[in-house]
Amino acid sequence: MENLESYLIKNICCIGAGYVGGPTMAVIADKCPTIEVNVVDIDHKRIKSWNEEDLSRLPVFEPGLDNLIKKNRNKNLFFTTKIEDSIKKADMVFISVNTPTKKNGVGAGLASDLCWVESCARQVAEFAQSHTIVVEKSTLPVRTAEAIESILNANLNADKEQDKSFSVLSNPEFLAEGSAINDLINPDRVLIGGRDIKAMNALKSIYLSWVDQNKILYSSLWSSELSKLVSNAFLAQRISSINSISALCEKTDADIREVSMAIGRDKRIGANFLNVSPGFGGSCFKKDILNLVYLANYYGLPEVSQYWEQVVKINDWQKKRISNLIIKKLFGTISGKKIAVLGFAFKANTNDTRESAAISICQDFLIEGAKVAIHDPKVDPKQISLHLNQSQKDLEELNSMQGGWQFFENIYESISDSDAILILTEWDQYKDIDWFKVSNIMRSPSWVFDTRSIVNETSIKKTNLNYWNIGSIQ
Ligand code: UDX
Ligand code: ADP
Repeated sequence: MENLESYLIKNICCIGAGYVGGPTMAVIADKCPTIEVNVVDIDHKRIKSWNEEDLSRLPVFEPGLDNLIKKNRNKNLFFTTKIEDSIKKADMVFISVNTPTKKNGVGAGLASDLCWVESCARQVAEFAQSHTIVVEKSTLPVRTAEAIESILNANLNADKEQDKSFSVLSNPEFLAEGSAINDLINPDRVLIGGRDIKAMNALKSIYLSWVDQNKILYSSLWSSELSKLVSNAFLAQRISSINSISALCEKTDADIREVSMAIGRDKRIGANFLNVSPGFGGSCFKKDILNLVYLANYYGLPEVSQYWEQVVKINDWQKKRISNLIIKKLFGTISGKKIAVLGFAFKANTNDTRESAAISICQDFLIEGAKVAIHDPKVDPKQISLHLNQSQKDLEELNSMQGGWQFFENIYESISDSDAILILTEWDQYKDIDWFKVSNIMRSPSWVFDTRSIVNETSIKKTNLNYWNIGSIQ
C-alpha cells in the first residue's frame, strides 16, 4: 500500500538566487500562497537587484518572471541576505548554488567544484532547527547527496543535545532558460530522488499544488542525480549530431533544415532539438557532459567516457570552424575589419552568456585583430567585458592587438561600416532586419553569416550582400 506519511511544509529557504533559484521559487511562492519562501544569497548586489522596484532591472531576464515577482514579492516571497535566520525558520532548504567545473586539482577541467555546495551544507548543519529537509536542486555529480548527508550528520553527532535531524532529497531542475516559467508551470516530469518517503511525500505535496501526480516520479537518490546528467548529455548529443551534419551539408547538395525536418518526422527521433547552431552554450550542457566523462573514467569505463567527450569536441569544433570560415571568406584576414556580432546570449530570451558560442568566436576575432561590434538586446555589456577583457589584455601584452570590441545598443549602428555581420543568437529582432537598408550602410564586399538560419532568404537575396547560411551549399 502507498505510504502517504508526510511532513508539513510552512517555510522554505532557497540558498542561491540565480537563474534556477529565482524563477523556481517565484513559481513555488505563486502556486503555494500559504508557504513562506525566502531566497537567500551571499551576493548582496544580486539580492538588491531582486528587490528592485524597476522590474526591468531584475538580475535574471525570463519572459513572465517580472509579473510573478510583482505579484508575490514581499507577500510570501522574500529575497534576503539573512541566510542564518532563513535557514533557522525553514522546514525545507533548497540548495541552488552554482557548481562550475573545477579549475585546479584532482578532476580539474572535468569534475564539478562542490565548494559552494559544501559551504551551504555546513551552514544548514549549523543553523537548522528540528527536522529539516534538504533538497539538492543544483546540477551535481552523482553521489553528492551522500556528501551533503555526511556533512549534515557529522554536525549532528557533535551537537547531540539539540533536537535536529535531516533528510536529503535530489530534485533536479529541468527548466531551460528563456522558457523557465513555462517549463516550471508545465513540466514534462518532476523527479524526486531520496530514501525518506515522508520527506519525498512532503516535496511532492508542494508540486501537487499545480503538477499532475502522474508527472511526479520517485527514484533512488543516485538515479535522480544521474538522470539529470544523462538528460542534458542526450540533448547536447542531438545538437552535436545535427551540427556535425551541417558541415557535411555545406560540402554537398543537401540542406540541413530539410534533413532535420525529414529525420524529425520519425516519431522515434522526434522533431525537437534538431536546430543547427554555432554550438550549444549555457551553464549546464558542457559541465554535465564533462561530469559524465569524469564519472565514467572514475569507474574504469574509458570507452563510455570517450563516447560522451566527443559531443563536447564536436561543439568546440563547430565554433572554431565558423570563425575560420569567416576569416577565409574575408580574404584570409580580418585584421582592422569591422565585424558586427549580433547576439551574445547563449540562446534567445535570456540575458545569460555562460558558455555562449559568442565568447570563443569573439575571442578568435580579437586575436586576429578585428574590430568587433557587439549587439544584444538583453545582455549587459559589463557581462561581455568579463568574458572578453581578459583576452584583450593578454593580447595587448603580446603587442598583437589591433582591434578591440565595442557594444552597441542599436542594431544598425553596430552594422554601419562593417565588412561582415555574424548572427549568433536567434533573437526575434534579427529576423526583421531591413537587409536593403543594411546593404547601403556596410562596406563592400559585404558578408552576412547566419549561424541560426533565421534570415529571410528571399529578401536578402534581392540585395548585393553575400549571404552564408549554415548547413546549406553556398
Ligand atoms: C538545458 C536543458 O534544456 C534543461 O533541461 C536543463 O535544466 C538545463 O540545460 P538551457 O541550457 O537553459 O537548458 O537551454 P537549452 O534550450 O537546452 O539550450 C542549450 C543550448 O543549445 C543553447 O545554446 C541553444 O541555442 C542550443 N540549441 C538548442 C541548439 O543549438 N539547437 C537546438 O535545437 C536546441
Ligand atoms: P544557477 O544557474 O545554477 O542558478 P547562478 O550562478 O545563476 O547559477 O546562481 C547561483 C547563486 O548561488 C549565485 O547568485 C551565488 O552568489 C549563490 N551562492 C553560491 N554559494 C552560496 C552560498 N554559500 N550561500 C549563498 N549563496 C550562494
